[in-house]
Amino acid sequence: MNKFSRLGFIFAAAGSAVGLGNIWKFPYITGEYGGGAFVIVYLLCIVFIGLVVFIAESYLGQTSEANVSSTFVKLSKSKNSNWKYSGFMVFGGLIILSFYSVVLGWILNYIFISFASLPESSELAGSYFNSLVSQKIELQIFFHTIIALITIFIVLRGVKEGIEKINLILMPLLGLILFGLLIYAINLDSFSKSVEFMFSANWNKIDDNALLAALGQAFFTLSLGTGTILTYSASLPKNENFIKSSFYVGIVDTIIAIIAGLIIFAFLFEAGAKSSAGPGLVFISLPVIFQQWGVLGNIIAIAFFSALLFAGITSAVSMIEPLLMLFIERFNMTRRKAVVICGSIFYGLGIIALLSMSNSFKDSLTFFGKNAFDWMDFLTSSISMPIAAIMTCIFLGYFVDKNKIRDKFTQHAPKIVFDIWYFLVKYLVPFAIAILLLNKIGVIK
Ligand code: TRP
Repeated sequence: MNKFSRLGFIFAAAGSAVGLGNIWKFPYITGEYGGGAFVIVYLLCIVFIGLVVFIAESYLGQTSEANVSSTFVKLSKSKNSNWKYSGFMVFGGLIILSFYSVVLGWILNYIFISFASLPESSELAGSYFNSLVSQKIELQIFFHTIIALITIFIVLRGVKEGIEKINLILMPLLGLILFGLLIYAINLDSFSKSVEFMFSANWNKIDDNALLAALGQAFFTLSLGTGTILTYSASLPKNENFIKSSFYVGIVDTIIAIIAGLIIFAFLFEAGAKSSAGPGLVFISLPVIFQQWGVLGNIIAIAFFSALLFAGITSAVSMIEPLLMLFIERFNMTRRKAVVICGSIFYGLGIIALLSMSNSFKDSLTFFGKNAFDWMDFLTSSISMPIAAIMTCIFLGYFVDKNKIRDKFTQHAPKIVFDIWYFLVKYLVPFAIAILLLNKIGVIK
């Protein structure tokens, strides 16, 4: 089996973690929940819950060197074969990929319009975006197809030649673009306002919804609960320090989310726009601002949307790999066959997702008040990911030999790190996530 190099793993895992979640979603939910205080809550969720689960998945993958399903069977004390059903979680990744690819398609479309003409007013920007989503079916299918083909092409080449290589190229490029944008933002008068917004705590808007949003975001941004980190870690060389690499990934992911926030809010405040624009922030508010900056605005727009695209592509490949590895190992498929099957499924689901938002098809693709796109998001973010994370923690806390885990941890870190982590995994994190889950499905409020 060809494994990642040490750097290749960190780049690939960071590439998975850094995605639309950081550059698109983190800034807009931070805006909605009023800034600094939300950032603090989010950071606590990252450290005490997200990183704990990240290290758990990484431990499992590196120890078993196998796909998700076999990992749980292999490492359980009793070798109980029912653990194979834990493999359900990898379908979460494929479902996320279905709608993620559609959104990446919009971004590709915005790169093209950044070259030509950006909208001149908020009304035009709003109606452009709305008509893209609700009317331009062929155009969306076209861009979704391109994204799907890019993703398929990369994973077809395997872990080392495909995934590692693309990350070693795109992640530095992403870093460079964000660095350039940050320099530009720092020179704007509104940068100090942006810093203040991101770092001064205003606790008024922090309620249980904010808490849930922060926890959900911590999960999504670290790519947890779909076997992605487990699967990548199965290709992490045996003696590498999985604890250290987990921290690196967590730090990179957090820094990039914060930088993206600083850049975007500096842009918004400079134009006197609101910080609480919601999901349309990147697709409606920003393009108008870029337009006001003339040709330089076009260049910044191209850079910005390319950054989003690069971040998204490296995440997309990580969503499909767990299912590929499972098909390849458990059903003895060739990589090619696995890619064709999984690729067709997410491509088809993506088309259903985009049709479900179009005027012509939304009625037939809306079920119990939610369209197919929202269902895919709900079934993953609110159901399968939290369940998978709870299961992972319970598994490690109660069904794996504690001594073995401790031995492996203490090879790389002081024993206190193990003690704290084990306590969190066994007692705190599963219950914290269970509360999130019950809340999201409306059992408790
Ligand atoms: N972390 C990515 C983001 O922030 C998304 C992502 C990639 C993901 N792989 C995943 C989310 C697996 C959940 C599960 O955009």
